[in-house]
Amino acid sequence: MKSCFFVIALCMGSIGSMNAQSLNMELPVKLYSDNEDGFIVIGHRGASAYHPENTMIAFKAAYEMGAEMIELDLTLSKDGVPLVIHDETLDRTTNGTGNVSDYTLSEIKELDAGSWFSSEHEGEPVPTLEEVLKFAKGKIAVNIEIKPEAVTENWKNGIEAKALEQVKKYEMEEYVIFSSFNYRAIENLRKLDVDIPAALLYEKGQSEGRGITELVTDYQVNAFNCSRRQFSKKWAEEASENDIPVFVYTVNRESRMKKMFERGVTGIFSDKPDLLKTVVDNMWKSKR
Ligand code: G3P
Ligand code: MG
Repeated sequence: MKSCFFVIALCMGSIGSMNAQSLNMELPVKLYSDNEDGFIVIGHRGASAYHPENTMIAFKAAYEMGAEMIELDLTLSKDGVPLVIHDETLDRTTNGTGNVSDYTLSEIKELDAGSWFSSEHEGEPVPTLEEVLKFAKGKIAVNIEIKPEAVTENWKNGIEAKALEQVKKYEMEEYVIFSSFNYRAIENLRKLDVDIPAALLYEKGQSEGRGITELVTDYQVNAFNCSRRQFSKKWAEEASENDIPVFVYTVNRESRMKKMFERGVTGIFSDKPDLLKTVVDNMWKSKR
């Protein structure tokens, strides 16, 4: 597996005036559309400011807006199919009710995951992971976030194994990065595949006071993901010193995008990937 996080950056001490890219940091995942700026524009749940989150129309729009990666939330249906939906229940983003895990794929496919957002999106279905990968292959990298409630001790046949099987089917192993707030998901994934790109999504309770470097090393991950608020100057310094790629969520305001970029993140999750792309392109132009 890549060991970029063990390398001490040469440019220590100047954090704040530089970003991760200027440290020649290796990206933890391959991009189909790399513009070689070393930064990843990520459509959070697709272009979810403009379309219902985690639907095909939102993912396609993110791609068309120039995002280099889409982020999706993954859980399992009752019959064990990897499904793309954020919440544990159907209530907020579909016309169904109750736990997602109580419904089979064919039952969930009957639901409307668009009307809650706007009448124009009526009838938009909940996608499967397979449908998203089929679209993304050759076009856009994918961050597969495994939802905590879907994770079990059954690492051989659980959500991680099922998702990995699909990624391998579409030969996208280098173009996806897994992540989870449930650290067990990362452990399960590593038992299945030591090379598949993975990121730890910071969760205080499971971190037991460990810092970024310790966590990244302990879980053998290629990147560290956290919220915009959590990514302090102290953490930025530690990530920079140890060459750890950091991705922050969810940043939709221009001023905050600029701040995070200056702080050295390798990528930003945004519901507005079009705005993020414009901001980042301009930041680069002004630095040249
Ligand atoms: O993976 C980044 C971000 O999506 C994590 O939070 O709740 O939006 O899935 P959430
Ligand atoms: Mg997510």
